[in-house]
Amino acid sequence: MCSMMCRAVRIHETGGAEVLKWEEVPVGEPGPGEALVHHTAVGLNYIDIYHRSGLYPLQALPAVIGMEGAGMVEAVGEGVDEVAIGERVAYAAPPVGAYAEKRVMAADRLVAVPESIDDVSAAAMMLKGMTAQYLLRRTHAAKAGETILVHAAAGGVGLILCQWANHLGVRVIGTVSSEAKAEQARAHGCDHALLYEDGGYAKEIEAITEGRGVDVVYDGVGRDSFAGSLECLAMLGHLVSFGQASGAVPPVELGLLSAKSATLTRPVLFHYTEAREDLVAMAGELFHVVGQGVVKIEVAATRPLAEAAQAHLDLEARRTVGSTVLIP
Ligand SMILES: NC(=O)c1ccc[n+]([C@@H]2O[C@H](COP(=O)([O-])OP(=O)(O)OC[C@H]3O[C@@H](n4cnc5c(N)ncnc54)[C@H](OP(=O)(O)O)[C@@H]3O)[C@@H](O)[C@H]2O)c1
Repeated sequence: MCSMMCRAVRIHETGGAEVLKWEEVPVGEPGPGEALVHHTAVGLNYIDIYHRSGLYPLQALPAVIGMEGAGMVEAVGEGVDEVAIGERVAYAAPPVGAYAEKRVMAADRLVAVPESIDDVSAAAMMLKGMTAQYLLRRTHAAKAGETILVHAAAGGVGLILCQWANHLGVRVIGTVSSEAKAEQARAHGCDHALLYEDGGYAKEIEAITEGRGVDVVYDGVGRDSFAGSLECLAMLGHLVSFGQASGAVPPVELGLLSAKSATLTRPVLFHYTEAREDLVAMAGELFHVVGQGVVKIEVAATRPLAEAAQAHLDLEARRTVGSTVLIP
């Protein structure tokens, strides 16, 4: 049936990119409710860096990291009716284990990939795209006419958020670290792409919004952007802190929110996808906007999975735009 070993990127200790080791690991066979997935593409996400560095502790080491993949179902265990052998599938879900040629996965976390979407695009969009979906549709249901601020607007989640928000009729302001990234953001629906380095983006946003501020800030940068995010909010604004690429946000003095009666949330994709019907609906909505051409998935780089360490260095050093996909 399946080969019992495959090659994977595994960590034995947490640390820098050098802890990522390309080695043989056992695969196992799918038990009840599980499927064996032969990966053709694996998504690179910032959460992989948190797992590798130890910011998000893993339950046990050694561990194959990675939470997003696409490929083909090679075998299924007892009682699996969500997917079938030979079906093209993708997922973005715990537990870690995606940086591998093959893995066993709970079948109820897998979704079928439409014919119009290739495997590399699927691996580039599941985690980042379903995140954009819940951020814009559920955490804060963005409405036409609203103004939002998206930090790291040229990043993986950022480029999808900008395009999708733009499609919803939302005015999008983004922050980025370079003029090249600003151009990318503008080309993907960001109405105003501002450089943080100028230091004055809050002032620019005040001018753009005629002193009102933005209705929502989608902040995946964390420590370095949090104060600026609060500053840019409109009265009754909503600060959605969904990541910490620059480091964890320090404890927040709740009273700070009272200056604007602001709301603050710290959402996590995997809570929104917990019920299979939600997962299927979210993936379906994502596939729909991508299929319509409303959201283009920018796979700016692909790399052999064995070179995951270099991909991590590039992501951490802010050298990437859009999505990076690792090829087993
Ligand atoms: N909560 C959730 O459900 C959820 C789901 C998915 C992703 N996320 C979060 O969303 C964020 C984006 O994820 P992604 O995978 O799409 O990554 P990404 O945005 O492609 O990469 C991170 C970007 O953050 C910016 N950044 C600012 N300060 C940085 C610093 N000190 N070090 C590194 N990067 C810095 C960089 O853009 P500039 O060069 O333009 O500054 C960098 O390109 C991450 O925080 C991630 O954890 C959260």
